[in-house]
Amino acid sequence: MALPLHLLTTISAFLLFFFFLLRCVNSFFWLPWKLQLHFQKQGISGPPQPFLFGNTGEIQKLSSKALVGSMPFVHEILHRASPFYDYWSKLYGKMFVYWFGSTPRLTIADLDLIKEVLLNKSGVIEKVAYDPITKQLFGDGMLSVHGEKWARHRKIGNTAFKMERVKEWVPAITESTRNMLDKWEREGGEKSEFEIEVYGDLLDFTADVISKTAFGSSFQEGKRIFKLQDEQAVLVSHAQKRVYIPGYRFVPTKENMRLWRLDKEIRQSLQKLIENYGEVGMIIDESLRLYPPAPSLLREVHKDIMLGKLHVPSGTQLYIPLIAVHHNAEIWGEDAEKFNPLRSRETARHLATFFPFGIGPRICLGQNLALVEAKIALAMILQRFTFAVSPTYVHAPTCVLTVQPGHGAHLIFQKI
Ligand code: HEM
Repeated sequence: MALPLHLLTTISAFLLFFFFLLRCVNSFFWLPWKLQLHFQKQGISGPPQPFLFGNTGEIQKLSSKALVGSMPFVHEILHRASPFYDYWSKLYGKMFVYWFGSTPRLTIADLDLIKEVLLNKSGVIEKVAYDPITKQLFGDGMLSVHGEKWARHRKIGNTAFKMERVKEWVPAITESTRNMLDKWEREGGEKSEFEIEVYGDLLDFTADVISKTAFGSSFQEGKRIFKLQDEQAVLVSHAQKRVYIPGYRFVPTKENMRLWRLDKEIRQSLQKLIENYGEVGMIIDESLRLYPPAPSLLREVHKDIMLGKLHVPSGTQLYIPLIAVHHNAEIWGEDAEKFNPLRSRETARHLATFFPFGIGPRICLGQNLALVEAKIALAMILQRFTFAVSPTYVHAPTCVLTVQPGHGAHLIFQKI
């Protein structure tokens, strides 16, 4: 006997709902519980996995808390650049599991494991696919694509950004630097000492260079695109973390004035160092060590694998706290948090101790351009000015996709 149509519809709807429920229970309860147990058995703990959103709420809270106000002018910035890693690594050790929704993220801070992950070419460990919001910013560009498509783009990119090619761009870089320095001199007018907020100008400068080199003659249009992307980056970062960045600045304190004078002294001796030995590269490296623009790297495991002695199930994401490695006193010594371009790198010879541009097949394509650009700019600035951090500067390192000053970078310039 055939069932009446309305009964069939009700049964189908019930079955559909039942399977949906089963899938939800599996994805949000059963699998995370099983995975947590799997890691615990191997000695890896971490914050408990709250239903549905994982630890994202706590991450947002920690980020917002970390970014309130400013900090003394020291370089110990892990708590601001990667607040949740700083907090949980103190509770659970450098390797722990946290939850991005129902996806486990395993932190990898061991140097050999970092190398193993980033140098992996088998296709089992890949970059994490962007969520729709982040994809709006980066599009389908090289940063996110995998496999064949990435290999094709990378081959073209390698040719476009190789050192010989970058050297051809030196006149364009020099011209952009000169324009920036002329602007500063105009702003300074007749004064021998004047303050400039340089962060905005340096952003414009890098946009100008890439526009001239990559967009060719249409660099004005390229520049406009970069400006729009900056605005978009802020919106995307807010959407990702809902980080609160206060928009106020602070009155200079006695301590700030003292630090400013100290900093001026250090800068002057550094300037001498550059004049005498031309060690601009060492200064840039030390800045990239303490303030790496990309504070962390992310990967995803597509097949069950062994990482060292650890069994890592397919679907696990790997969080590499690059900035924590750069600040690690076990690697860099007791003065790890000090800015010292002349530091010995004897204890930091491992490939994964200093990697502001990443390592392995996905290493930064623009590394040559970025370094040549920074060296030329710094050398040209020092030919025309001496500079020191202004007493009005507010030290508030922030992470809006990249590590950057929260309230600009105010410098006092003196014409030479
Ligand atoms: C100081 C400046 C820069 C820093 C610190 C930096 C850092 C990085 C890092 C860490 C990665 C690797 C990401 C990962 O492994 O997940 C990367 C990738 C990349 N960077 Fe940069 N970058 C800089 C400047 C540039 C510039 C100027 C360009 C282009 C003109 C550029 C283009 C790229 C591209 C295309 C990739 C993706 C490469 C691939 O996936 O094959 N970067 N960058």
